[in-house]
Amino acid sequence: MPAEVAAAAQSALAGVTPEAGAPKPDAILVADSVSRHFGGLTAVDVSHLEVQRSSITALIGPNGAGKSTLFNLLTGFDNADTGNWTYEGGSVTNMPSYRLARKGMVRTFQLTKSLSRLTVLDNMRLGATGQKGERMGAAIFPFIWRGQEKAITEQAMALLERFNLAAKSADFAGSLSGGQRKLLEMARALMLKPNLIMLDEPMAGVNPALKQSLLDHIRDIREEGTTVMFVEHDMDMVRDVSDWVVVMAQGKIIAEGSPTSVMGNQAVIDAYLGAHHDRNLTESGEALTQGGSS
Ligand SMILES: Nc1ncnc2c1ncn2[C@@H]1O[C@H](COP(=O)(O)OP(=O)(O)O)[C@@H](O)[C@H]1O
Ligand SMILES: [Mg+2]
Repeated sequence: MPAEVAAAAQSALAGVTPEAGAPKPDAILVADSVSRHFGGLTAVDVSHLEVQRSSITALIGPNGAGKSTLFNLLTGFDNADTGNWTYEGGSVTNMPSYRLARKGMVRTFQLTKSLSRLTVLDNMRLGATGQKGERMGAAIFPFIWRGQEKAITEQAMALLERFNLAAKSADFAGSLSGGQRKLLEMARALMLKPNLIMLDEPMAGVNPALKQSLLDHIRDIREEGTTVMFVEHDMDMVRDVSDWVVVMAQGKIIAEGSPTSVMGNQAVIDAYLGAHHDRNLTESGEALTQGGSS
């Protein structure tokens, strides 16, 4: 596959100063002064963040850095205490997730949210509604796609083929392996043909073979023009697939840059060391992998 979109994104980012909060030439998402406190804890305190259109941007940082909380805020699954953010140039501050999804901004979760007692195909169909699903039973299905059922089912089956899940379409999602659930979640998010997809640890708990396939899917998604931001602990994966890396620690963005520049950044190394990781970041990425995925 010609990697034209990748080349364009990389050359656009080549001119960006590698520092926290750096402006981007063509940002799809811009966030300012976003904070979230839990009691006395400041989980997120981000002064400025821009995500370059058509890039693959990795969000890394020690466990508890605030990565998932930042995703929750930006994607309307939690409300910020302060801040404002724009998507495609329009304010979407605290906009609920289903409205964002209709605008083409979707996310997946660190712990998969597929509905175990629905079939794989029905999970996909539910994806077409932009709903998270928990609050909706199967009973609502007939109302969702009256008149669109055929098109939605065809789109769902095409995505299931692409993600190697077509043979499982009639199985309950609960019968899938952890890795297959990750694939299902990514496939489901694509039902809305997003412009921006935010993936929270898409490769956590996935076996190495499937990880490679997930990386390929991420590259393909971007090549179709979708901007990808993803949280990942494994620095080998980050280096493999991302054009740009944003580093969080203790709620703040402490560094940004290419994978190489970020991994040599002293503030980043210190942040990981401070989080009781005792290995050098540049070794093999293991320092970033240990400690799991909380
Ligand atoms: N709902 C919550 N209530 C209280 N504390 C929370 C909640 N969600 C997250 N936190 C805390 O906020 C901090 C950031 O968490 P999180 O965003 O999950 O970090 P990360 O995804 O980077 O590992 C952690 O200290 C975590 O314990
Ligand atoms: Mg997290």
